[in-house]
Amino acid sequence: MSNYNFDELFDRKNTDSIRWNKYEQSVIPLWVADMDFKSPPCVVDALKKRIDHGIFGYSKEPDNFTSKISQYLKQQYDWDVDPSWIVIIPSVVSALYATANNCIKANEHILVPRPVYHHLRVAAEKSNRLFTEVGLEILHDRLTLTQNSLINGLKNNSRLLFFCNPHNPGGTVYTRDELEEIVNIAHKNDFIICSDEIHAGMVFKGKKHIPIASISNEAADRTITLMSLNKTFNFPGAGLAWMICKDNKLRHQVTKDIGTLIPETQIFGYISTLKAIEEGDDWRRALINYLESNKALLQEEIDQMSGLKLYDIEASYLGWINCESLPTKDPHKLFLEHGVALQPGYMFNQDKHLRINFGVPKKLLMEALNRMREAVNDV
Ligand SMILES: Cc1ncc(COP(=O)(O)O)c(C=O)c1O
Repeated sequence: MSNYNFDELFDRKNTDSIRWNKYEQSVIPLWVADMDFKSPPCVVDALKKRIDHGIFGYSKEPDNFTSKISQYLKQQYDWDVDPSWIVIIPSVVSALYATANNCIKANEHILVPRPVYHHLRVAAEKSNRLFTEVGLEILHDRLTLTQNSLINGLKNNSRLLFFCNPHNPGGTVYTRDELEEIVNIAHKNDFIICSDEIHAGMVFKGKKHIPIASISNEAADRTITLMSLNKTFNFPGAGLAWMICKDNKLRHQVTKDIGTLIPETQIFGYISTLKAIEEGDDWRRALINYLESNKALLQEEIDQMSGLKLYDIEASYLGWINCESLPTKDPHKLFLEHGVALQPGYMFNQDKHLRINFGVPKKLLMEALNRMREAVNDV
């Protein structure tokens, strides 16, 4: 039995939530990636205590903050990171754009997986560099960036790969062998890797998150890793992120806009992240158990809906559904008309697919799945 109640339903409609305010009241919104669970009590209490102080001036980084992150990385991933490699940033997304703009030349080329969380692609696009979308292959029901797909997309001037592990959408967790292949290709072809590992804290049992930069010295030398506890502990509206970059030159390039184009991190980010690091692990494990049981429910239900196929989920709460066999032109519209808002595939540059956020109490998930079954039966 868990000490935490993930079954509790909360009304988020009057909280200016992006997810809950977009559609009319009756729709169940399973699109944007935040969960309907309260952050761990230790985090909420720490924030309350600080709120009671009543003065919210500019904040400096708490003492030894990067050392604490470094210890956390050692404990969670057995990864040795010198605190001087860590730079605190307000969000992962800003760092994706900074990497594309600052770390390669204007005439150099970027590799981006497809499908992927849209900001990886848009960061490449907005940087005005040429880029190629590398189609993920389906290996044992997992969306995977393979050696073949990567080599097919490579150009002579490819100098940056945007990588996402665990992958969004779908939650693939890369194995050591798969990561080694990617690092070898990066090394042979001399490109850097920007690895978005924001979902690393929610890897399911039997799988293991391996930061790609921890694979070897060569990997560490050419990687910018982006991490945050925002997703895992469900405080993206308050939290912060960090980047890890061993190479001094690369680190200076990617961080040069902090304090100008990229704002400094603020007080609630520091407080929530520090508490989650110090006292949040019990809650995190309970969350993973709950997400695993939601995944099982989702898998069982989707398997019975004709025309839908769910790829295997190894982490986090973002399932990727293939609707290519569903006899409808616009699956997103179909489910919306039946009261469920999913994230349309075009956000990830893949039509006839939908992403479902199952980081919600079971009762809500069951209701959404019932509506989806009715929708499928209606076409
Ligand atoms: C892969 C990935 N990267 C980044 C983000 C957003 O990160 P942040 O809120 O720190 O900018 C998300 C949010 O869904 C995500 O899934």
